[in-house]
Amino acid sequence: MSADKPSRRITIADIARMYEEGERFATITAYDYPTARIVDEAGIPLILVGDSLGMVMLGYDTTVRVNIDEMLHHTRAVARGAKRALVVGDMPFLSYGVSQEESVEHAGRFLSEAYAQAVKIEGGVRSARTIEAIVGSGIPVMGHIGLTPQSVNALGGHRVQGRSKESARKLIADALAVQEAGAFAVVLELVPAELARAITERLSIPTIGIGAGPHTSAEIQVITDVIGLTQGFTPRHARRFGEVGEAVSQAVHAYRDAVLSGAFPGPSESSSMDPTVLDEVLGRSVLDRASSSMAIPLDRDL
Ligand code: KIV
Repeated sequence: MSADKPSRRITIADIARMYEEGERFATITAYDYPTARIVDEAGIPLILVGDSLGMVMLGYDTTVRVNIDEMLHHTRAVARGAKRALVVGDMPFLSYGVSQEESVEHAGRFLSEAYAQAVKIEGGVRSARTIEAIVGSGIPVMGHIGLTPQSVNALGGHRVQGRSKESARKLIADALAVQEAGAFAVVLELVPAELARAITERLSIPTIGIGAGPHTSAEIQVITDVIGLTQGFTPRHARRFGEVGEAVSQAVHAYRDAVLSGAFPGPSESSSMDPTVLDEVLGRSVLDRASSSMAIPLDRDL
């Protein structure tokens, strides 16, 4: 299922096959239609509409502020842009885990209203029953353990997880619980590379690392970090593969300067009309027109 293969929608069965064949894959987040198109055309097999949306696109100070309507709105846009990639909608804070019924209902909205093919939920052992209920209702689930940003207040900050004996054991138990509950893949966020490798070796579903070293089955990154659109803090595990923010800034400056100098819009960006029609509308003569300051050279006149 490599980038140049043609094209029906990728399913969780394809992800399982890639994993079984040892095919490492890159996944990424997207939040809007044009970016989803670019990512899809690059052959990325899975797009996550992450709740990182809240911080990198909506300007909130934490992902906890994102609500389900915002997630559905952006997931819909991504689903329209991604013709081939599996689209995973991230269930926001407290949209799952309060009751099984509500969790299943909210997960269902990502498929029926936003056209995602799967959902992601955070938490290992503590979310296992919820994962089971959602998977049991026919909705594929991607797990997420390690640093789970929705619990950042409980975890005491954005720190690497699993460095102590106790927390490493807990993470292995979390990974196994998520697998046992029926998730088709699990994100490992901010986990020491050695532990991520050990977890990957113990699972029979793909691990998707972010800040988890090179030994996971796949990698995921937040797109604004990768393309150079993140302003301010960029996590240590991210690498800028482009400078889109700089490119956008240069384009906006050039546009503003061209408007102010009169260089834009020019003849090729304007349209014209039969001057006699306007003469009649304005009740003026050809001579009036010749002296009018409106007589700018347009496309047709050149
Ligand atoms: O919200 C998000 O972007 C995520 C990824 C970091 C995995 O959960």
